[in-house]
Amino acid sequence: MSIAFFDSGIGGLTVLREAVRRLPNEDFIFFADTLHVPYGPKSREEVTRYVHEAAERMLKQDIKALVLACNTATSVAAETLRQSYPVPVIGMEPAVKPAVEMNEASGRRVLVLATELTLSQSKYMELVSRVDDHGIVDSLPMPELVQYCEQLNLNPAELGSYFRSKFQPFDLDEYGTIVLGCTHYPYYAQLLKQMLPPHIQVIDGSAGTVRRLMGILEQQGTSGGGSGQIRFMNSADDPAYQLKLERAWHLLNTE
Ligand code: DGL
Repeated sequence: MSIAFFDSGIGGLTVLREAVRRLPNEDFIFFADTLHVPYGPKSREEVTRYVHEAAERMLKQDIKALVLACNTATSVAAETLRQSYPVPVIGMEPAVKPAVEMNEASGRRVLVLATELTLSQSKYMELVSRVDDHGIVDSLPMPELVQYCEQLNLNPAELGSYFRSKFQPFDLDEYGTIVLGCTHYPYYAQLLKQMLPPHIQVIDGSAGTVRRLMGILEQQGTSGGGSGQIRFMNSADDPAYQLKLERAWHLLNTE
């Protein structure tokens, strides 16, 4: 039985990378919703429908867990998926809690980058109000970044100037941590680290998500039984997108 990883596009591969490192004795399916990427600018209802359609297809495979390697899909559809299907659904949310804890002592601020849909949902607002006692968390949607990423555009000059214009309203000296709250964004983690002031840490939710997945496999007694195989699928059954998934996977693993 495999573990399914799901995202609107190539973003979730950044979470799969962490899973493959930590779980060498599992097999994986990675499913990208090529037909509907990007999710960020769409409505909650639309994205919920797309995620359920994709889940139906993944469940036709022999899977023992479904990881929503997508913050946007999690924020709109994790609960309804859990009610609808018998497999454990592991979602992910922006790593706001660890970021707040990291800055408690220094008094620096936290900047959360995510899609506009993630940031507009009550799930995100509740998370922030639960952990941000001192009002240090700011949020910044980065809609264009998913598009750059889907084009596999890693051009440092172009992306550098995009980031500089987005950060322009912020005094970065005040910030201690930037949270990558969308699984597409870690493709740019290295570039961000190079261009940001050195005291700023850049974090994402991959490690926490994979830890939760491991805990659930353990709990249900379904760990292991595989050999690190990965099968890529996309909702359009598009061979060109399959190649893109393979290229993106190669890029991530040769960083
Ligand atoms: N990778 C996704 C996320 O983590 C969604 C990006 C998009 O499709 O807009 O939020």
